[in-house]
Amino acid sequence: MANNIKFIKGEGIRLYTPENEEYIDAVSGTFNLSLGYSHPELVDALKKQVEDLIHVSSSFTGELAQEVLDSILDEAPEHITDGWMRDIIGSTANEGAVKIANKFNGKSEVLSVSLSHHGQTLFTTNISGNAFRRKSFANTITTNNAVIPAPYCYRCPFSAKGPDCGYLCAEAIHDYAQYGSSGGVSCMIIEPILGNGGNIIPPDGYFKKVREICDELDISLIADEVQTGIGRTGHMFASEHYDIKPDIITLAKGLGGIGIPAAAILYKKEYAVLEKFEHSYTSGGNLLSLTASQKTMEVVSRPGFLENVQVSGKILGDFLYKLKENYPVIGDVRGIGYMWGLEIVDKDGAPDVDLTNKIVDVALSDHKMILRGSRYGFGNVVKVRPALTATQDDIEEIYFRLNKIFSQL
Ligand SMILES: Cc1ncc(COP(=O)(O)O)c(C=O)c1O
Repeated sequence: MANNIKFIKGEGIRLYTPENEEYIDAVSGTFNLSLGYSHPELVDALKKQVEDLIHVSSSFTGELAQEVLDSILDEAPEHITDGWMRDIIGSTANEGAVKIANKFNGKSEVLSVSLSHHGQTLFTTNISGNAFRRKSFANTITTNNAVIPAPYCYRCPFSAKGPDCGYLCAEAIHDYAQYGSSGGVSCMIIEPILGNGGNIIPPDGYFKKVREICDELDISLIADEVQTGIGRTGHMFASEHYDIKPDIITLAKGLGGIGIPAAAILYKKEYAVLEKFEHSYTSGGNLLSLTASQKTMEVVSRPGFLENVQVSGKILGDFLYKLKENYPVIGDVRGIGYMWGLEIVDKDGAPDVDLTNKIVDVALSDHKMILRGSRYGFGNVVKVRPALTATQDDIEEIYFRLNKIFSQL
């Protein structure tokens, strides 16, 4: 999204230019501002931390890191009891998760699904199911990892029809473990909702099947909750809501609340296998990240906070379904909580990437609203993911502007 707009102030879901023009951000930055712009409680906590002490090495932050981890683990699925806070971005948290699985089961290969996105380091570019990002980087295509078909019912890779499809996309794990790899599949990594790939929500029963197959083949299951975690779906963890039962969960984005980089890896007790020196970064678990994570957890865990995301998310969904009834270019509406996508199609039902990009562009230029397209302009899903603090009035305003955009186009 290249443009010349400059923002100097933000509040909630609103951004302001030097001329005090107001824009609405319907996608909360890159879906990382769980608490919107400049949430006052986070700003106060961070200001105090900056005044007191900005940085000490992680040799001296262990106690605080554990406190923060405990507050996250309190809300995590019951079987997830341990964690690691030595990352600040999702890409390296996912790499850490793979290291943990590799060390735990002594195998090395990774399975992921097409249309997935797990980061942009060389390794996470390799394991992500979006090959267009690998084109110029030979290092990302040399290992033995495999990508299996996505659980994308709207455009089923097997042209099957649910609910009796037999979960062919999950069954593919067998084939790929046997033929696509050298036989040493260590783990499978999957987003509970494929975020960048197009807000793809797997069908009921998919994760149960995946878990069964992973158990059968001794494959560790990693839920990449970098987008879905910390309340995005109206539930603290999508893994819990969809009963995924992962062995490892990764978090980033929303954990930092207002855009402070923060990440965590959570896992079952027996997965606590890493030595400190095996996965840590200079800025991992720095004081500002920990402060932001701690305050974010406090705010999101408050009674009523996630209930509001559920209720208002339902209202947002109803508005989007209404748009679909009125505008045939919307082929499918998918979402939960504050994580929604509109699949844009041409008159034959094929993906309309040009129109998708136009919707995003016109929203910004004519309606002062920030949207994002899937796969950063190569895909056909318009994403709507406001900050979790968005009120029902904010949701109505987003709908109002979306309606104007679709009627204009
Ligand atoms: C699901 C998912 N995993 C991992 C990442 C990588 O996170 P980061 O950009 O913080 O490295 C992203 C980023 O978009 C993501 O959406």
